[in-house]
Formats: sequence, C-alpha cells, structure tokens
Amino acid sequence: MRIGVMGTGAMAAALGGAWARAGHEVFIGGRDTAAAATLAAQIGAAGHGTPAQASTYGEAVLLAVPAGTAPSLARQHAGALTGRTVVDCTNALVPGPGGVMLTTDAGQSVAGLIAAAAPAAHVVKAFNLVHVSHWHRPPLPTADPAPAVPFCTDDTEAAAHITELITATGWTPIPSGGLDRAPYLEATAAWAIGIWWSGNSPHLALPDTPPPA
Ligand SMILES: NC(=O)c1ccc[n+]([C@@H]2O[C@H](COP(=O)([O-])OP(=O)(O)OC[C@H]3O[C@@H](n4cnc5c(N)ncnc54)[C@H](OP(=O)(O)O)[C@@H]3O)[C@@H](O)[C@H]2O)c1
Repeated sequence: MRIGVMGTGAMAAALGGAWARAGHEVFIGGRDTAAAATLAAQIGAAGHGTPAQASTYGEAVLLAVPAGTAPSLARQHAGALTGRTVVDCTNALVPGPGGVMLTTDAGQSVAGLIAAAAPAAHVVKAFNLVHVSHWHRPPLPTADPAPAVPFCTDDTEAAAHITELITATGWTPIPSGGLDRAPYLEATAAWAIGIWWSGNSPHLALPDTPPPA
C-alpha cells in the first residue's frame, strides 16, 4: 500500500518505519522538509516532502501530529484527502490531578472533528492506545495471541486498509465499531495512561473472558 505520513516525530518514525519494513511504500511529509528527508532515509521510506505532498501520495494518510492540530490540518488538505483512508492516532490529553485529562468535549472525539473537517475522507481511529515504542519492533514471539489494535471507522475500504496496516505491525486488528465509538477509544487512552503513570498495568484490568454461549 502507499501511505502518506504527515509529521516527522515519534509516531511518524515508528509507524512509518514499521510499514516500510513490511514492504509498504511510505512517504514522509513534514513542515520541516529537512527533517522529513532525514526521517525518510532512516526508515527506508519511498519518498519525502511536505504535508501537502503526503496528503496526495497514497490510499492511506497517517496524521502523526498533535491532536489540536489534526483537524485544522485535515481541513487545510480536505480536497486532497477525498476518498482516502485517514488514520487518526492522536490523543487530546493534558496532565491532570488524576493522570491525564481529555481536552475534547464529552461525546466528542478528535477523529470526529477530523471527519467534520474533511467530510469526504474516510477517517479511522487507531494506534492511540499504547506507547510509541511498541511500533519499533514486532510483538514478542511469546505474545500468543498477538496483542491487538482496536479501530473505529464507518467505511469498509478504510477498514480493509487499517486491517492491512495493523497486521503489518505484527499486531491483530479488532474492529470496534463506527466513528461514533471513537470517543470511547480516546477516553480509554486517557484512562490507560493514568493507570500506567501510577505504576500499574492497564492490561491487568482487562483479563480475557470466554465469549457468551
Ligand atoms: N508518543 C506516543 O507514545 C503516542 C502514542 C499514541 C498516540 N500518540 C499521538 O500521536 C500524535 C503524534 O505524537 P508524536 O509522539 O509523534 O509527537 P511528536 O514527536 O511531537 O511529533 C509531532 C509532529 O507533528 C508535527 N506538526 C505539528 N504541528 C504541525 C502542523 N501544523 N503541520 C504539520 N506538522 C505539524 C511536528 O512537526 P515539527 O517537528 O515541525 O514541530 C512533528 O513532526 C499525537 O497526537 C499523540 O497524542 C502518541
């Protein structure tokens, strides 16, 4: 698959690198084009340039930018994003007394704001739950079954794209409903990061349960 990445930071490097290692064609688009060139060389990307060029590069576009920036960037490139899968990995969080707090209004999500800003794009919420370090290497071979990436989208083609992109990282995709459920994924990140910061392991709170008979 061809994937345009907007951003040259930690998530751009980690996910872009994982997809390039898996044989996908990745284009790094940064507002600092020298940083984009450096990152592209580091991860073996197929190309580099500006965010605008990344927006027209492929079937999928990753917004690896701050949550407060993602909707305005999507609005700026709404025409180019038409019909493309737009992957939103952002978390709109600020430090708070009990861990971190969402900055979005109740019931709202960054993914929903992106979809409103670029209504003809096919937005997917994914990759927001765990620390960036996970994407620099495949899951440990002892992890059986492979750990999972939940995703939310309303579009069937975007679901197929994100399934391929999650599988490329060695993780297992879990369809988690439409974009109306993205607020839950974003709130789950806030909850999990708070637990993690307190020195505990969020995954211990979610042991597997056999499916209902
Ligand atoms: N780090 C994690 O563990 C993690 C995990 C899950 C989700 N996330 C989410 O992933 C997103 C990216 O996180 P990150 O850790 O990769 O952040 P980061 O390392 O700070 O990188 C952010 C990138 O966004 C770019 N950027 C900022 N404003 C921009 C604009 N107006 N136009 C174009 N590019 C712009 C920055 O460019 P400059 O360098 O030019 O400023 C930088 O390349 C965030 O929303 C974060 O919440 C992060």
